[in-house]
Amino acid sequence: MKILRLDASVRGDSHERLSYRSISRQLANHFLSELKVNNVHFEMKLRDVGKIPPAFIDEAWLAACFTPETKRTPEMQQALALSDSLIDELHWADLLLISTPMYNYGMPAALKAWFDQVIRVNKTFSFDLQRGDFPLAPIFSGKRLVLVSSTGEFGFEPGGVREHMNHLTTHIRTLSHYLGVEQVDDVQVQFQEFADARHEASKAQAFEAVAALAKAFLPQVPKQIEELMQSA
Ligand SMILES: Cc1cc2nc3c(=O)[nH]c(=O)nc-3n(C[C@H](O)[C@H](O)[C@H](O)COP(=O)(O)O)c2cc1C
Repeated sequence: MKILRLDASVRGDSHERLSYRSISRQLANHFLSELKVNNVHFEMKLRDVGKIPPAFIDEAWLAACFTPETKRTPEMQQALALSDSLIDELHWADLLLISTPMYNYGMPAALKAWFDQVIRVNKTFSFDLQRGDFPLAPIFSGKRLVLVSSTGEFGFEPGGVREHMNHLTTHIRTLSHYLGVEQVDDVQVQFQEFADARHEASKAQAFEAVAALAKAFLPQVPKQIEELMQSA
């Protein structure tokens, strides 16, 4: 399995004070260490957009995108160089592991900058008005997304008191379709700002959920073989 890990928190995961450590990064670390515990083989590339934010797209970027490849000047090629390499990383991966905080009810600007760089016409999606009112279609397919996140408040889940304020997981789920993602697993820690028992319970539950998710990546033994092994 090929994993592209994206970390979006501006906080690191090794501060001497435990409470200063990024929870979303710790969830991603836990997922990877549980894959190892379960002997799930993987290769990984890391894009730490929280520490090294990608550039924002600009007018030169857009003009280069809409110029046919064979007609692009060296300046245009340069304007798209970062986008090209981020898309190559995305193309390489079977699984995206995105760890992100909620900032201002949505994703951090650095992570949005990454999405803006990789969701690109004729590279990651095609545009065809013959498709009627839904002209965009993803070019890549078959990818999975594991999305681990952390919030200060609570109630962002479906049916929760702040469901209508969740512009984080909903937005990332929508965008991930254009990256070729066909399955999303989403684990969130809430209540960070309350630092109370509810936060501790939310963390414990999320770390357990991430461990269970890692187990689901074990190669599946075909049912007939499992039955034969049990009857032997
Ligand atoms: C700039 C900033 C904006 C934030 N905005 C929100 C918010 O809108 N809603 C919320 O529930 N928590 C918000 N928080 C709290 C974070 O989501 C919370 O601290 C989370 O644990 C951060 O993720 P991390 O631990 O991986 O760094 C914000 C924190 C920061 C630093």
